[in-house]
Amino acid sequence: MKLYLDTANIEEIRKGAKLGVVSGVTTNPSLVAKEGKGGLEEYRRVAVEIGNILAGAGVNEPSVSAEVVAADAAGMIQQGREIARWSKHIFVKLPSTTAGFEATAALSREGVRVNQTLCFSVNQAILAALAGAAYVSPFIGRLDDISEDGIALVRDICEVYKSQGHKTLVLAASIRHPLHVVQAAKAGAHIASVPHKVLEQMIAHPLTDIGMARFMADWEKVSKPQAR
Ligand code: E4P
Repeated sequence: MKLYLDTANIEEIRKGAKLGVVSGVTTNPSLVAKEGKGGLEEYRRVAVEIGNILAGAGVNEPSVSAEVVAADAAGMIQQGREIARWSKHIFVKLPSTTAGFEATAALSREGVRVNQTLCFSVNQAILAALAGAAYVSPFIGRLDDISEDGIALVRDICEVYKSQGHKTLVLAASIRHPLHVVQAAKAGAHIASVPHKVLEQMIAHPLTDIGMARFMADWEKVSKPQAR
């Protein structure tokens, strides 16, 4: 399973890229707005910079998802074409709505790589695959928030895609904690996109900290100059 960062914060992306385990970034209008950016031109600059940071860190074929901000199919198709031209790293995020599937089918036929977002059911995932989406993004956390089982959805989509031979990759989105990452991997997700905080939580373990402190202290004892 690949790991992407779910953020539009440049500093977090720099830190994640430096770590050498992040190969892509997913953004959405809310994440871009959180960074105080607005309008497609500012979104373009952020998306291009993200791609450059990942490529500069040595990531092979980095993936940067950027979302349309139109609600009708014609608007999504027009914006999707524009967003796809921003850089060679771009995946265009389109929602799992009637207009979104129509736009996915049209743009996929033109060779645009689509990330079908806001997926909350296996049926939507089937439609995303049939429309030619490169990724489908089931939102785990938002389903858990309403007492549904987000991980079960990831598992079900992976099972159906496997049995049907669909090539669309399953990107586990709306991840809220490190256990979601483990569960997404076990469920068969191809990609997990995580907030930077979750990446840090994946690293942290108290026994690692205790072990490091003990190794350093033991080494210090024998490395000090011996008293006469
Ligand atoms: C990523 O593709 C999604 O937009 C994102 O994971 C949504 O996360 P949230 O439910 O925490 O807003």
